[in-house]
This record gives sequence, structure tokens and C-alpha cells, in this order.
Amino acid sequence: MHQDMKYVLLTEEQIREKVSEFAKRLTEEYAGKDPIFVGVLKGVVMFFADVVKEINIPCQIDFMWISSYAGTESATMQVRKDVSANIEGRHVVILEDIFDTGNSLEFTYHHLLSKRPASLKICTLLDKPERRNPAVTVKPDYVGFTIPNEFVVGYGLDYQEHYRNLPYVGVLKPEVYEK
Ligand code: IMP
Ligand code: MG
Repeated sequence: MHQDMKYVLLTEEQIREKVSEFAKRLTEEYAGKDPIFVGVLKGVVMFFADVVKEINIPCQIDFMWISSYAGTESATMQVRKDVSANIEGRHVVILEDIFDTGNSLEFTYHHLLSKRPASLKICTLLDKPERRNPAVTVKPDYVGFTIPNEFVVGYGLDYQEHYRNLPYVGVLKPEVYEK
């Protein structure tokens, strides 16, 4: 375990099992639909790669990059990089690392919906319901793990752009935030 970690919340093994479960469900549900899996950068990279590697049907992948204005946690988001594909009439699945306040997914969902896909679903690895903004109306169709109200890092998730490379999800020691 990394020295900055207080504890591991989700082990590589737990994540691997969940990823396989998602891939199996998506493979079944989207057979014959040539879906597009859209990853929201950067937090989703590990989850995204692991899931799509196990999908056994023809499909495409694409990415979006969004951020909140001025690096705040405000509900106002902007598109830094849009999807490259024309998704009109296509079956689209958004993959996300975490559904926290929900502001990001609320924005991403409506942004993609305005491009008139045939269907649009959301698959998130983590859900932290205690932090939800009550104004958020979207709901993920697939949730991996519901987690307590703790800031987590690893498996794509960062604290100040670090720890994304760790293969598990964990909680940092409090002193790390004091540095
Ligand atoms: P939102 O609050 O649901 O809009 O989530 C916004 C983004 O904040 C997520 O996509 C993550 O990249 C990041 N985020 C939210 N909670 C955590 C966390 O516990 N650790 C690391 N990043 C987080
Ligand atoms: Mg993110």
C-alpha cells in the first residue's frame, strides 16, 4: 500500500470483479446496437480501459473532457474536449469514475442528449450519495459501488493530480492534506 494511504477502500480484486460484471451486462444489453462508450476524462481512464477490453461486441469509444469554471466546485461546467463522433441516432453509454455532487454527470448527460442519440445511459464505478446536489436530476443506470462520504483516490481518481496511477481505491491520511 502507498505510504500516503490511510486505508484501501476497494481492492484490485473487488474492482476487477465489478468491471467484469459491468462488461458482461453491457455486452448483453448492447449486442447488435454498435454502441459508443464515452469516457469523461481524466478520472475514468482506468475503469474505461478495463471495461471496454472485456466488451465482446462491435462498439466504438470516445472521450469528453469537462471542467468547472475557475477550478471551483461550481455547478457551471464547460466542455474542454467534446466527443469526436457524431452520436445522433447512436446508442451511447457514458462511463464515469464517480457520481459525487452529480454536477458533472448532470452537465455531461444533457450535453450529449442535445446531440439526439438513440439512447443514452450512465455507468459509474462509484456513487457517493451523501454529497449529492439536490438540484441534480440524472441518475446513473449502473452503479459499481456506493461509498461513504470520504475523499478517495486511485484507479484514476486524483488528489491534486496525483495518485491516479494506483491500482486500487483508497483514502489518504489526513496529514497529506496539510502539506
Ligand atoms: P461531481 O461532484 O459528481 O460533479 O464530480 C466531479 C468530479 O470530481 C468527478 O468526476 C471526479 O473527478 C471528482 N471527484 C469527486 N469526488 C471525488 C473523490 O472522492 N476523489 C477524487 N475525485 C473526486
Ligand atoms: Mg472526473
